[in-house]
Amino acid sequence: MHVGIVQSLGEFVRSCCSAEAKAAYARLVPAGEVMAFREIPDVRVQSLVAALAGAEGKTSAELLADYGRHWVKGARTAYPTPFAARDTKAFLQGFGGTHLAARALPGSQPPEIEVIDRGPGRLALRYRSSRHMCGLIRGIVEGVAAVYGERAAIAEPECLLAGGTCCTFEVELRPSPAPAASGRVP
Ligand code: HEM
Repeated sequence: MHVGIVQSLGEFVRSCCSAEAKAAYARLVPAGEVMAFREIPDVRVQSLVAALAGAEGKTSAELLADYGRHWVKGARTAYPTPFAARDTKAFLQGFGGTHLAARALPGSQPPEIEVIDRGPGRLALRYRSSRHMCGLIRGIVEGVAAVYGERAAIAEPECLLAGGTCCTFEVELRPSPAPAASGRVP
């Protein structure tokens, strides 16, 4: 993921989802089709996510959060540089450069994410995108926090899906009572 977000969504469906979701993906994304992000209408991505969520008995936001948590596991090895940050907050304050660099890739269109420091252990993320994939942000933040042995309490006082001009995520990070799933990337 999520360079080619629809293809990497397919990898998530194949490894983590039910037979119904796999069938829905196969129906909506013909085998071998390579879809550059900018060329896929937003409504097609949103319909695909909604169909997968329906097959899984979840909301689109829940499905995207699952996908985000799953993506982080692969991203740790695919993109080691941002994961060299010392903790979740430092990661989230520093990963923006990867989105900037990714804008140069053909067909790639990362969203606009503003990071606001709210003091020790806290920050806010402001997300703007015509994709309205805010569930993915929640899942990625939770997945990154798990990498660092932290837990993220996330409130979303403003959401694009509720008519806001952006999604605002207020994030509070605490050490997780459980040990980190598999430790930091060296
Ligand atoms: C390891 C660092 C990261 C890299 C290399 C990366 C790269 C990318 C790329 C290339 C895309 C565009 C995908 C496409 O065109 O199909 C994208 C999309 C996206 N990224 Fe990232 N990303 C990273 C971290 C993050 C983080 C930490 C967040 C959330 C806090 C995030 C949230 C999103 C979302 C929500 C999208 C979907 C597109 C949209 O909403 O418009 N990414 N990313």
